[in-house]
Amino acid sequence: MTQSHRSLPVQIFVVTILLGGLGALWLMGLQYPVPPLTPFLVWTLILLATESTGLDLPSGGFITVSGVVDFAGILCFGPLLVGWADVVSVLIFQGLWKKTPITKVAFNAGLYALTTAAAGSVYVLFGGRFGDTRFMHDLPALLAMGAVYFSVNSAAVSGVLALVERRNVLSVWKDNFRWGLLQHLSMLPLGMLLALFTLTGGLVAASLVVAPLSLARFSFAAYLRSRSDLKEFVRAISRVLDAVDPFTREHSLRVAGYAVRVARQQRLPIHEIEMIEYAALMHDLGKITSEARPLIEKPGLLTQDEKRVLNSHPTVGAALFEQVKSLRRAAEYVRAHHERLDGRGYPQALTAEKIPMGARILTVCDCFDAMTSDRPYVRARSPEEAVLELHRHSLTQFDPAVVETFVRLFEQGRLDDILRSPRRVPEPEFEPVAAPAREAAPYIPSHAAEPQPA
Ligand SMILES: [Fe+2]
Repeated sequence: MTQSHRSLPVQIFVVTILLGGLGALWLMGLQYPVPPLTPFLVWTLILLATESTGLDLPSGGFITVSGVVDFAGILCFGPLLVGWADVVSVLIFQGLWKKTPITKVAFNAGLYALTTAAAGSVYVLFGGRFGDTRFMHDLPALLAMGAVYFSVNSAAVSGVLALVERRNVLSVWKDNFRWGLLQHLSMLPLGMLLALFTLTGGLVAASLVVAPLSLARFSFAAYLRSRSDLKEFVRAISRVLDAVDPFTREHSLRVAGYAVRVARQQRLPIHEIEMIEYAALMHDLGKITSEARPLIEKPGLLTQDEKRVLNSHPTVGAALFEQVKSLRRAAEYVRAHHERLDGRGYPQALTAEKIPMGARILTVCDCFDAMTSDRPYVRARSPEEAVLELHRHSLTQFDPAVVETFVRLFEQGRLDDILRSPRRVPEPEFEPVAAPAREAAPYIPSHAAEPQPA
């Protein structure tokens, strides 16, 4: 556990949620009769099964269909039974089996109890009755239950994440739960179906709903696996780059770090952020061809033919990746990472409106890293000087909105870890002399040749 997980505000928040959950269970115990043992055990087992078959999301989250089981349980047996079943399943699965840190187990147990109690109470408030759901008649109560279940859960999780990450709670909520309400409400019909089978056919009939749920899980798992394979494929290529040209690889890793933060700050969709990260990791792959490589380290001016070879690296890199269907968007960004808003970029001399946002982000991050890194015959500029250059060429070379986002992150110190990351100094050792003529335009990234429109 990190220091921030153990900080006093986090501990206080966790204890508050735990006490809130226990208090809710106690209040429900006063209000409702002791639940029967058999459905309690069955529901605990079903919840254990859903927890243990949960899937890790590429964005770092974890998804289960326990919402479906909770909804059905509340409709059939009320929140007291489901609240206790949730707590017991969390203690067994997360505490005993997964050996999750005690703070997290306490938080999740308290939160599940609190969420179930709030959802069940709102369902009753809107006229719903446990064990006797009239599905169309009770629609407002069902929707209210789904909305409260989602709101309590997402608010508490955002609260603890905001304390751990020292961020604004609303921005954490937006990052993690913006589309979650629809996802949670989509669990309602399945919860209703499970409740209907349970109420009309007993617990054996309820097991029939498990088959389509398992199928849905299997399909989703296959989809997640293909996305994670794609990520591994790009990372494997990036590691190959390390063997051939470690400086380009390190540069690419830093550009990817900057670009992902800018893209997140601009609230781009997760899939888009992934494509930008992949493009950043691969953007200079076209430079490691046998023709282009010697030119990168060549001192002095380049001939027109040599410039043409070097300037073809975005096209060469993009051509490699557009053969993989899922990477076509990333290939588009690789192709356009040397385009300029004023149409003086290369290889296609695209003008502002034709340059995709992913490529605009790459351009800013690529140039900033090139300027702040030592290169053969060129000493690195300070980050402050590089920021001035970004401002100076905003609107002509760079997208002003991207520059603004990048500079804001820089001024807030949110790029410091990347800036301070250890770097290898490329050969040959430079002498602190005046930069050669081809470095006259300091904002041109790593290979330093003045870009010519195609
Ligand atoms: Fe490049």
